Amino acid sequence: MRNTSNMVFLSVMTPLLLAGCGDDSIAIAENPTQQTMTQLKRWYSQDQVERGNPLYQSHCAVCHKPDASGTKEWNKLDANGKLPPPPLNGSAHTWHHPLSILRRTVIYGGIPLGGTMPAFGDKLTPQQIYDILAWVQSHWSDEIYKIWNQRNSMANNRTGSG
Ligand code: HEC
Repeated sequence: MRNTSNMVFLSVMTPLLLAGCGDDSIAIAENPTQQTMTQLKRWYSQDQVERGNPLYQSHCAVCHKPDASGTKEWNKLDANGKLPPPPLNGSAHTWHHPLSILRRTVIYGGIPLGGTMPAFGDKLTPQQIYDILAWVQSHWSDEIYKIWNQRNSMANNRTGSG
């Protein structure tokens, strides 16, 4: 049987690694009047955010910075043709990915796709990965979260996984 989840992962990650997808990250600012400030219920609890913080600090902060601000010029390739660690705080591209893809990025890392992020699938439990992602997403504004949430539910409808 073919592993369709890996294929989804590859098709989404490859354009990211190659192009950085800077194009539609400005879409939010273009329609400020259409944004509503209504707060959306998030998928994680405050407990998860608190558990995720020390895990993030010990496993991820060395590259993505303690405040998840990553590298300012995150879509410029370095001298070796690799992308630097991007911000995860909602200012870059991370919110374009549904939760399932964010999880897979942490589990498999970026090395199989020509990137440099190490894999964490054998270092962190599934629950710890969810907790770290909760902490990461707690840095996202309500506007970013709302758009992410729409994409995330569309992705869940397509693949039936979360
Ligand atoms: C050794 C440095 C390094 C460490 C440690 C690291 N990352 Fe990364 N991360 C990167 C790089 C570089 C990229 C860009 C893709 C690539 O090159 O693999 C990336 C990409 C990502 C992405 C995709 C971002 C996007 O905008 O699409 C996520 C999500 C992510 N990392 C989360 C994490 C989390 C969570 C941890 C800790 C469990 C972590 N990273 C640890 C270097 C690192």
